[in-house]
Amino acid sequence: MNYRHAFHAGNHADVLKHAALLALCEALVRKPAACFALDTHAGRGLYRLDDAAARRTGEAAGGVERVLQAPDAPVLSSYRAAIAACRRQQGDAAYPGSPWLLAHALREQDRIACCELQPEEAAALRRNFAGDARVAVHERDGYAAIPALLPPKSGATRLNRGLVLMDPPYEAQQAEFDTVLDALRGGLQRWPQGVFALWYPIKQRATLQPFLRRAAHLPAGGVLCAELQVWPDDSPLRMTGSGLMICNPPWQFDERLSALLAALHSLLAPDTGSHRLQWLRREGEDAAPRPSAQRTPRSRDRG
Ligand SMILES: C[S@@+](CC[C@H](N)C(=O)[O-])C[C@H]1O[C@@H](n2cnc3c(N)ncnc32)[C@H](O)[C@@H]1O
Repeated sequence: MNYRHAFHAGNHADVLKHAALLALCEALVRKPAACFALDTHAGRGLYRLDDAAARRTGEAAGGVERVLQAPDAPVLSSYRAAIAACRRQQGDAAYPGSPWLLAHALREQDRIACCELQPEEAAALRRNFAGDARVAVHERDGYAAIPALLPPKSGATRLNRGLVLMDPPYEAQQAEFDTVLDALRGGLQRWPQGVFALWYPIKQRATLQPFLRRAAHLPAGGVLCAELQVWPDDSPLRMTGSGLMICNPPWQFDERLSALLAALHSLLAPDTGSHRLQWLRREGEDAAPRPSAQRTPRSRDRG
């Protein structure tokens, strides 16, 4: 396990993932019933864009910093407000990770479980949320936490509403794509009402097709993918963009994502980028027969 998110905090992939995560939380908290959020690959929860790791890659300059320099756009206002709130609390160079954003967007009655396998990251995560009784930090494998923690309960009460964010580092390359699909299938079977959001890296889109075809057969009420590439598909770079796959998306979430993708495309990569919103399967649509024994071709870690 070599991956450290501090090198990539606030990059274009974080902007897409974090803005969409906040929009998912907004949809969840529209109803008063308590929600549960599971962050299977949580990282440390808070980053500093002036530390050595972030400065070494400079990736935030092509991500969050561009969003903050642009005039406000309604579809990005929750994301900008969350960054501003994080910076008021943690200082001007802070950048919130997914656990911080969940804690920010969810309410007193909601519960958040964050899993992180790397001991130093898990210790920092625990420190960062020591004062927040809603947040449980688990130093454990996030995939194994899915059967252990779902369906969620608060005392004896089962929680029906909520989300699972899966944001692995893809260090296992091809094998990780197979693992995430198995984990999603298991999670959806245990918690069919849950919203499941999976981040994935894009190098060349064509290589993702077998993975996306298999994802269309997940046992969900709709599978939606939002993808933002900041570099052309044939670029020699390791990662040209990223996608977020959402199983059981909230009502009309495709419209929200469509506006978000268009805004991010024009802000982050107006000349070199592209975006795409794709239903792998709509709610109520039958899945075609499942492809047999087809595995995902080589991909790569998130670079
Ligand atoms: C991409 S980062 C997470 C970033 C975070 N979700 C965010 O948006 O702020 C992935 C994290 O997963 C951790 N990790 C790797 N394998 C894991 C596993 N099997 N279970 C839990 N955490 C894991 C890594 O140490 C790393 O901190």
